Amino acid sequence: MDSHLSNPTLRLDLNLIQAKLATTRIGKAPGWSNELWDCLDSTNTRAIELAQQGAPEGVIILARQQSAGRGRQGRSWISPPDSGIYASFIFRPRCPLAELPFHTLACGVATAKAVLHSTGLKLGLKWVNDLVFNGKKVGGILAEIPPSASEKALSTPSSSYAPLVLGIGINLVLSEVDIPEELKEKIDYLERIAGQSIDPNLLLASLAKELEEIYDILSLGHAKEILDTWKEFSTTIGKNIQATSGNTKIEGVAIDISESGGLILETSGKEKVVLYGGEITIRGADGSYI
Ligand code: BTN
Repeated sequence: MDSHLSNPTLRLDLNLIQAKLATTRIGKAPGWSNELWDCLDSTNTRAIELAQQGAPEGVIILARQQSAGRGRQGRSWISPPDSGIYASFIFRPRCPLAELPFHTLACGVATAKAVLHSTGLKLGLKWVNDLVFNGKKVGGILAEIPPSASEKALSTPSSSYAPLVLGIGINLVLSEVDIPEELKEKIDYLERIAGQSIDPNLLLASLAKELEEIYDILSLGHAKEILDTWKEFSTTIGKNIQATSGNTKIEGVAIDISESGGLILETSGKEKVVLYGGEITIRGADGSYI
């Protein structure tokens, strides 16, 4: 396998990650192993498969490369060998389905905090969940709810809550040939921003810790704390936004995030519109939307 990492000793290593894990549940699911693959089609696809077989909350699926990494809105996720974090976490939240979008937002906060604590870099959060630096995308989150599991899988007590798979992709080091022409101005990677190599094992252990902490906060009902932290990392609030939903385009200023994680826009006619999904672009200093 061709490795792009500038320091080849810094490859994903499951033993190293597990030794660094300062969690009590994530990465420590009783009776189930975490997995690290040299190459998978998609870590989310594998995590969904395991969740359907009854895998409990806490199982982590990792790959050094993905041959069919998936992004939001049906896009693909560039996943060359040893060039990024490609990780999926199985959760079984004890909350109504309607509250699940908030878990994705919380996952964005956990990822931004993990990058900050393990590398010192403060990435921004662009609604809903893009990790950005100077307007360029560095990471993203794909949350998926697996279609219902088999009766047999549901009969184990550990798997009685419906699964949620949170897939996290972070660009660590990309070479020119990995980036399609149309994305060259739109994506970036941590090693270029930091000017030094990044330890993927440390970043992953930190990610598991931050995810566990944030889900503990959520289960205590302290969602406001998470919203406040999301806003601290936000590159969206206060900006002029163009949102696309189907054929409809809305423009306005992003003024806040609603309690359920929707983006509140104020249009030029002072009308308030709450967005719950779709894509947004932010107007840059030159007036163009990026
Ligand atoms: C986005 O479009 O912003 C979301 C990207 C999510 C990519 C990650 S990489 C690990 C996991 N497996 C996938 O196939 N996708 C997610």
